[in-house]
Amino acid sequence: MKTTIYVFSATGNSLTTAKMLAEKMGADLVSVAYARRLPEINEDSDTIGFVFPVYYGNMPYPVREIITKMNFRSDAYIFTVATYRGHAGDVAKRVDFLLKTRAQKLSLSLGLPMPGNSFINKPEADKAYLAAQRENIEKLLPSLQAREDHDYSSDGIIKETPIDTANNFRGMLAEDTCIGCGRCVRVCPMNNIILENGKAHIGNNCATCLACFHWCPVEAIYMSKQENIARRSKYHHPDVTFEDIVKMKDR
Ligand SMILES: Cc1cc2nc3c(=O)[nH]c(=O)nc-3n(C[C@H](O)[C@H](O)[C@H](O)COP(=O)(O)O)c2cc1C
Ligand code: SF4
Ligand code: SF4
Repeated sequence: MKTTIYVFSATGNSLTTAKMLAEKMGADLVSVAYARRLPEINEDSDTIGFVFPVYYGNMPYPVREIITKMNFRSDAYIFTVATYRGHAGDVAKRVDFLLKTRAQKLSLSLGLPMPGNSFINKPEADKAYLAAQRENIEKLLPSLQAREDHDYSSDGIIKETPIDTANNFRGMLAEDTCIGCGRCVRVCPMNNIILENGKAHIGNNCATCLACFHWCPVEAIYMSKQENIARRSKYHHPDVTFEDIVKMKDR
């Protein structure tokens, strides 16, 4: 039995979750930020998991990218664990819909409530989710061990949303207060940021993960098209460092 878990994470909720799951399941861990650069992925594991944050009730674009170029065994068992702030939306149907294009299906979709990194949460709720993370992961294990097999197929066509493509629809911008430290360049999973004359420039190849925003040491990055949350407070999981997220691009 070989189990591989693919993980995408901008602020560490999904990374810590995937690490805990991999330990419990004896799984290999592969980062989506790394795997997205491979031309093709031939996955010979019999159990494959995808652990990622929910974005607008959907999967992050880099997760879509890797599934689109993945070849699975015909008898592979595929599960997802989505971390989310409040609502996982249609994520299971969307992953299943995509897997069908790879002659596969989603067997088990699990969710884990964690602090939000998009909108502002109540700090007490964040603390409670963090404190319960390990216990909540333990609760997911019996369904995985039983290899539960559910039907997530959709009755109709699943409509595309902005998050299904790489584009800067939130208007991520670095402004003149940028001190040119290059942290956003290093952390961006899409390699969508360059430094020019000591200032960061954010392009349109954006997965809207907000890693650049949360890991910028000053207030230089904001969401120019979402004034109500343009400069929310920064978040990262307390057990995860900037280098942990950067390293995910290398393996
Ligand atoms: C662009 C964006 C959209 C999000 N959309 C949702 C959502 O639809 N539902 C939800 O419950 N949480 C949503 N979130 C919150 C994240 O899913 C949640 O904080 C997640 O645990 C972050 O994982 P990470 O730390 O591994 O990056 C969103 C976050 C971002 C950045
Ligand atoms: S992380 Fe912030 S300060 Fe550093 S280069 Fe990027 S925008 Fe500028
Ligand atoms: S530019 Fe920022 S929000 Fe967009 S993919 Fe890169 S790190 Fe994520």
